[in-house]
Amino acid sequence: MEKLSQITTGKAKSLFATSNPEHLIMEFRDDTSAFDGKKMEALDNKGKVNNQFNAFVMEFLASKGIETHFIELVSGNESLVRKLEMFPIECVVRNRATGSLCKRLGIEDGLILDPPLFEFFLKDDALGDPLINDHHIESFGWASQEQADSMRELSLKANNILVDFFKEANLILVDYKLEFGIFNGKMLLADEFTPDGCRLWDKDTLTKMDKDRFRQDLGNVIETYGEVAERLGMQIKLD
Ligand SMILES: Nc1ncnc2c1ncn2[C@@H]1O[C@H](COP(=O)(O)OP(=O)(O)OP(=O)(O)O)[C@@H](O)[C@H]1O
Ligand SMILES: [Mg+2]
Repeated sequence: MEKLSQITTGKAKSLFATSNPEHLIMEFRDDTSAFDGKKMEALDNKGKVNNQFNAFVMEFLASKGIETHFIELVSGNESLVRKLEMFPIECVVRNRATGSLCKRLGIEDGLILDPPLFEFFLKDDALGDPLINDHHIESFGWASQEQADSMRELSLKANNILVDFFKEANLILVDYKLEFGIFNGKMLLADEFTPDGCRLWDKDTLTKMDKDRFRQDLGNVIETYGEVAERLGMQIKLD
């Protein structure tokens, strides 16, 4: 697999062309950002941990019928993925209220949300990723109504699978963000599922085991990601 020129670079990952025009190499860097890029730091081994964590979760979701862009691991911190036309949309599922939701609506932190809450956000750091709904998506042409429905259905289907997956590791899946794109006319789950893009609390102590450790300066960020991986039965290679 030949790694060609860099196509794009975001706050945490970079994408490279390959000899196959339908495939990209996704490199997970150690760079860590929060608050729409206002807080940035490189955390040792984050790229490797997140790449291998993502591969494990993507393969698990695929085994349960959710199709994803992930093809295979290429190295410790790189994966081969399908090249998609991405929607400029973030799909968020919440099982407990926390973070921006509590601020926005004055909700008590930790409130159990049953049924789980689904939200669309526009991917736009300069605007602070604002909350949007189906009507914005259709009127501004960010996706069709059918595609919006499909993103919501897949996000909630993934939730049923992932809540149980994390429960086995004594973790509460509090919330998470997914991104989707189109490959040959088909909707696929893209981007990543790692502790950078979800919230995980220990079921007994409610200890935060995700990127809130970085946002809130709680320390041991990557050590904690590693503990989550270990509880889920992953074998992360750091060499
Ligand atoms: N399979 C894919 N094909 C094409 N682009 C993808 C694919 N998976 C993810 N991406 C895009 O690659 C970029 C990943 O980089 P990163 O997550 O570091 O970006 P970011 O700084 O979070 O920026 P953004 O706000 O656009 O996500 C994102 O823009 C994401 O939407
Ligand atoms: Mg991103």
